[in-house]
Amino acid sequence: MPYRRIAAWDSGGHNAGMENPACSSAEYVAAAATNATLGSSSEAASLTDRFGRRVSYLRLSVTDRCDLRCSYCLPKGFSGFEEPENWLKFDEIERVVAAFARMGVSRLRLTGGEPLLRRHLPQLVQTLAGLPGLHDISLSTNATQLHKHAVSLRQAGVSRINVSLDSLDKACMEQITGRDSFGSIMAGLQAGKQAGFDPIKLNMVLMRGINDHEIMRMAEYCFKEGFILRLIEAMPMGDTGRQSQYMDVNPVREQLIQAFNLVPAAEELGGGPARYWSTADGSGTVGFISPISQHFCASCNRVRLSVDGTLYMCLGQEEKCELRPLLRAGASDTELEAAIRAAIELKPERHEFTTQRHKIIRFMSQTGG
Ligand code: 5AD
Ligand code: SF4
Repeated sequence: MPYRRIAAWDSGGHNAGMENPACSSAEYVAAAATNATLGSSSEAASLTDRFGRRVSYLRLSVTDRCDLRCSYCLPKGFSGFEEPENWLKFDEIERVVAAFARMGVSRLRLTGGEPLLRRHLPQLVQTLAGLPGLHDISLSTNATQLHKHAVSLRQAGVSRINVSLDSLDKACMEQITGRDSFGSIMAGLQAGKQAGFDPIKLNMVLMRGINDHEIMRMAEYCFKEGFILRLIEAMPMGDTGRQSQYMDVNPVREQLIQAFNLVPAAEELGGGPARYWSTADGSGTVGFISPISQHFCASCNRVRLSVDGTLYMCLGQEEKCELRPLLRAGASDTELEAAIRAAIELKPERHEFTTQRHKIIRFMSQTGG
């Protein structure tokens, strides 16, 4: 019986010892295995959770390492990185992504840590771009290494990139990222533009007293450069008591609407949680992402695969499924799909960042941003 084997595989990994409901629930796994065996039409193939949400988007972390130490993601002194032998190899990643693509996942985002630190990334992208059913490959990067890889990634099949940029001030960036990062990020952004990524979105995590005085300037910069600015409420991942820096994005949106006469964007951009507003002539666009003040869990369409092969159902919850042991024990495609379906059955309704702030101990870099 598949469920017995999957239950037995569910051990180890860097989160071993933590509560692990996914893949250890025999009923869910058995039911999903049956569905996977029976269901062959494309309708049956798609991944839908208990709340009727269709999962069509996979965020794939190719490394948990990063050359920066953004305070909200991977603080200074963090040392709990995954051992290289536990990183999914490229052929293992390909198997998992192919399984997702067979089950209707059409969009993939490469994340980290910093994904460009994973060697031979363009090679992986090229393979994944050839998978049937996958229509969109994007990348989230800090851009410090982008000047070296922009062209090869574009040629390999990455169409769109998101770049983290929390400030336009060199010293402020050094304070936030813990490193002298500004010059290389600027070079990376220009290389990204020249390589033809379109659009390029800039992620700015709002931090009161740190970068809130730069929001207008950042919007002007993005409008001038043709980047889409996204203003993001900080989530308390791996929280180390930074709640005083939290900023609600709604008043910021009102300020920007006033300052630039923004109107709701005509075009649907990205299919994610951001709500976009544009200048009247459409030349400038700003997205607002409010995971805390107005959570968007009801329309969540995504799951995350971390570098060690753990499939996380929610950024803010512990439900997960360890796929690496399964892959390394020679599971068949049917068994792999069954395990994924079983995990999707356990996708929680929503995060609880506002009600249980200290529940989550994982840093963003561990889950995959
Ligand atoms: N809260 C909100 N956004 C975050 N990011 C990383 N950590 C957090 C957090 N705690 C975002 C950054 C980065 C992207 C990969 O994830 O904007 O650009
Ligand atoms: Fe690195 Fe991005 Fe995390 Fe900053 S937010 S530490 S750049 S992975």
